[in-house]
Amino acid sequence: MVYHGLKGITCVETAISRIDGEKGKLIYRGYNADELALSSTFEEVAYLILNGAFPTEAELSRFNELLASFRVLPEACERLIRSLPAELDDMAVLRTAVSSFGDISFAFKPTMEQALRLIAAVPSIIAFRKRLADGEEPVQPLDELGFVENYFYMLKGKRPTEAQKKALETYMILAMEHGMNASTFSARVTVSTESDLVSAVTSALGTMKGPLHGGAPSAVTDMLEGIGEKQHAESYIREKLEKGERLMGFGHRVYKTHDPRAKALRVKAEEIAGGDRDIDLALHVENTAIRLLEEYKPGRKLYTNVEFYAAAVMKAIDFDAALFTPTFSAARMVGWCAHVLEQADNNMIFRPSAKYVGELVSQ
Ligand code: ACO
Repeated sequence: MVYHGLKGITCVETAISRIDGEKGKLIYRGYNADELALSSTFEEVAYLILNGAFPTEAELSRFNELLASFRVLPEACERLIRSLPAELDDMAVLRTAVSSFGDISFAFKPTMEQALRLIAAVPSIIAFRKRLADGEEPVQPLDELGFVENYFYMLKGKRPTEAQKKALETYMILAMEHGMNASTFSARVTVSTESDLVSAVTSALGTMKGPLHGGAPSAVTDMLEGIGEKQHAESYIREKLEKGERLMGFGHRVYKTHDPRAKALRVKAEEIAGGDRDIDLALHVENTAIRLLEEYKPGRKLYTNVEFYAAAVMKAIDFDAALFTPTFSAARMVGWCAHVLEQADNNMIFRPSAKYVGELVSQ
């Protein structure tokens, strides 16, 4: 038996998150992720995912202090980013810059401090590159700002409004962790060879880059822009499905009902944009796509995934498409690091087998 794409195969035990694809539930360490996203801060949820329990006040303030102290990029990393070609896309820059952290201080076995160093550095790398690409000088982090607020500040050079901050924070909490997805699997496979945390996260970033995984939201924006007006949605989507193309932002390997993250984000997107034209169009496209997917792919249970409304939230807070996958990655760093720590604590190298279907020439 060959399990293409390892579909339906359980390969680790984890205490980090649980997905119930039939009921549309995502649980982080025992708590509903969509409820956490509306009631907790990024740092509180990150602490929970990494440590398995909510922090005390003292633990949270130490955690915040450490994250803030690791935000300033090493000079060598800044020089490296400045030296990279302008044509390199932002995920390629992020992957390369993270890889430059891999000195001896990150040797196996991974530690919580190593994880915090990388989690804190990623938003700074994204912002540094983005500002250079936009012809602006990078700005240094502000100590008094929380993780999400500081990321916005370093990108835009100004603090977000409360609504912008909350929308971005909701998205980043919902993107933080998601079981054995492709990039998390890459990270666990890499560390299972007793390689280091930097290598594991670099593998994950390379995997996240693909459009079937984290690269979908910019494709969603392209689709929404291609449709332009509500009355074109039906013909646009029909044409794609007639050609056998996939609709970005729909379908999920695990969810066979609405993705709970998409539902929570849709609420935020509506809140921040009010009766915004883009959100109105997105809602119409969602309904049309679900109806047509059922017509062209009956019984496949294809619904909206997190990427669809991630695109809408990003647009509402004025983040351009180039920032979508890097921002997703900045949040998912928490999940990747938690999985790497878990794998290293109870390790067995991943080594599946392959069925040979080539010729047998020699006797
Ligand atoms: N549009 C049209 N048809 C689709 C879509 C889609 N978005 N997704 C799946 N299908 C169809 C397939 O063509 C296939 O049809 P068939 O049975 O006639 O061959 C059937 O549904 C099953 O497809 P699989 O690829 O086996 O489904 P799987 O569950 O493995 O795929 C995936 C999951 C890769 C996410 C897929 O739904 C997809 O490509 N979606 C579009 C890309 C996207 O939105 N990615 C973001 C995912 S969320 C995340 O990574 C954070």
